Amino acid sequence: MDMCNHDLKEDIREYWSKRSATFDLAFGHRIPQGPELDAWSAAVRNAIGPEPRRVLELACGTGEVTNVLLSLGHEVTALDFSEDMLGVARTKHAGNARVRFVLADAERTMEPDQAYDAVICRHLVWTLTEPEQALADWFRVLKPGGRLLVFDGDWTKPTRLGRLAVLAVGLIERFVGHDTYYDGAMSEKHASIMTRLPFSDGLTTERLEPLVQEAGFIEIAFPSHRPIAAAQRKNADLRNRLRTLFYRRFVLVASRPADDAS
Ligand SMILES: C[S@@+](CC[C@H](N)C(=O)[O-])C[C@H]1O[C@@H](n2cnc3c(N)ncnc32)[C@H](O)[C@@H]1O
Repeated sequence: MDMCNHDLKEDIREYWSKRSATFDLAFGHRIPQGPELDAWSAAVRNAIGPEPRRVLELACGTGEVTNVLLSLGHEVTALDFSEDMLGVARTKHAGNARVRFVLADAERTMEPDQAYDAVICRHLVWTLTEPEQALADWFRVLKPGGRLLVFDGDWTKPTRLGRLAVLAVGLIERFVGHDTYYDGAMSEKHASIMTRLPFSDGLTTERLEPLVQEAGFIEIAFPSHRPIAAAQRKNADLRNRLRTLFYRRFVLVASRPADDAS
């Protein structure tokens, strides 16, 4: 890793550590019981099946996706490189024997070869500094036939409908003021990190698919993200309902070939 990349990673880690205490307060991060937990659970179940599995969760943050995985009965190794984020997750899941938290770099997990039935991450890939290296590592730790499940989006530019939603939220905020937790995602620090990332001009399925393929994955599919967005809108106020329209989000599922024992 060159020094420049090292500095970038440190900046990313510091940024998330600073956000750890209030991360769950920003809309879209917490996954409450009810329609949202049901929608996230269905997406995971559809991707990796209903049986309890050995799952590696990358960049677990405050442990919200961890909760989805645990509620489905999986045995979870949840890693993050921010000790502060892990601290929140550890507290949330204290006493649960089915989860092991690990302080580690998601791009070089140091987990054993072929150890997991599934590798899952939400909102990590857009902020990777070495996506090819990361995908090779995730392929390595999966058992033959294991599944990769990625939830992510293009956070650099709103969609056409999203631009209208951004305007509408701007209008609402003239009256009710800014939501500082949400705007944290758009701070100067975030913008400075964004410009230095490999996906600085946006993470799209078109950019990700060939990389996933080159890493050796097959059966790459993009199940709809809509049920999750619809569930998020169910109990949200108008401003947050509009926020579900800002960006193009996606789900990617892929497999390590079942006959690949390399
Ligand atoms: C947007 S948050 C998402 C957290 C969680 N996955 C969720 O969806 O609630 C990004 C997380 O990725 C972690 N992260 C970013 N790059 C990482 C890396 N290279 N290795 C491990 N964790 C990383 C950050 O510390 C942070 O917790």
